[in-house]
Amino acid sequence: MKVTVVGAGNVGATVAECVAHKDMVSEVILIDIVEGLPQGKALDIQQSAPIHLFDTRVTGTNDYSDTADSDICVITAGLPRKPGMSRDDLLAKNASIVKSVTEQFVAKSSNSIIIVVSNPLDVMAYVTYMTSGFPSQRVMGMAGVLDTARYRTFIAMELGVSVKDIQALLMGGHGDTMVPLPRYTTVGGIPLPELMDAETIEAIVERTKFGGGEIVKLEGTSAWYAPGAAAAQMVESIVKNSGRVLPCAAWLTGQYAEEGIFIGVPARLGTNGIEEIIEIELEDSEQALMRDSAQHVRDNLATLERLQAQ
Ligand code: NAI
Ligand code: 2OP
Repeated sequence: MKVTVVGAGNVGATVAECVAHKDMVSEVILIDIVEGLPQGKALDIQQSAPIHLFDTRVTGTNDYSDTADSDICVITAGLPRKPGMSRDDLLAKNASIVKSVTEQFVAKSSNSIIIVVSNPLDVMAYVTYMTSGFPSQRVMGMAGVLDTARYRTFIAMELGVSVKDIQALLMGGHGDTMVPLPRYTTVGGIPLPELMDAETIEAIVERTKFGGGEIVKLEGTSAWYAPGAAAAQMVESIVKNSGRVLPCAAWLTGQYAEEGIFIGVPARLGTNGIEEIIEIELEDSEQALMRDSAQHVRDNLATLERLQAQ
């Protein structure tokens, strides 16, 4: 199997590294517009193979011919946030980057599955879907795996338990309107509300919503270790056809009373990409949060259309 990662920056290089460490595909191609960067990072990752013991070949390039016949593509190309910026500030610039890389990638790999990471995530997934002409099953966005990982980390830190025992669900757009669902969060099978008071849960939910911004403030740019690991986990679920249920930005056609947008929902991932969008019963308050989050994605899409029309 061949995986292409577009964008050899912080997130892209981490995705390539995490995928290689899993030793599950024959080839990872890292591609970027900056000459030398993907080649150098790929070589560096490759030289860790004798230590991490993987056989995956990692190659860097600036030429899409080298990406031909990829099975999976992860798009991380684009600008990251700087302090004071929201993900939405990246809209117009990243849309044109994501459109261009999608066109170039699909021209060489018409049967692949694309996982979008570039921000603002839900809109960039839409741009890739529209540009690629791929069936919706084969285009998805990575955000929920990262956001739930942050949420689970904060819960583990608060309770002093292992992250391994925490299962959680988080839906909605990737941003401040994301929708964590504490009643679908368990610790060793025990519902979270039985272990933590409502005020502490609320504080953790808020920290999760602004988890990306917390890192931007500390580092001056956005996160990459957890985002890279999260995208690699989605790649793994597809490669191994393991049927993992992960929160992904998926194209909705009426699920959760929404249609015509990409937004985070629980999905079963396998060889064909999104094998199933799982619908659960939401309480009125949760459905209202989901509606607000979807409206935010729609507002962003409208802004992008306005900017593109200028
Ligand atoms: P970075 O600046 O480290 O890397 C971006 C790379 O994209 C650079 O190497 C740049 O040369 C490359 N690039 C720009 N235009 C390109 C083009 N046309 N073709 C190929 N490569 C191109 O940024 P970083 O930190 O890796 O973030 C990448 C994107 O991922 C940002 O938009 C960021 O906001 C987003 N992100 C999304 C997350 C999510 O949960 N969905 C989490 C973290 C980051
Ligand atoms: C994050 O949540 C910036 O979307 C990126 O870290």
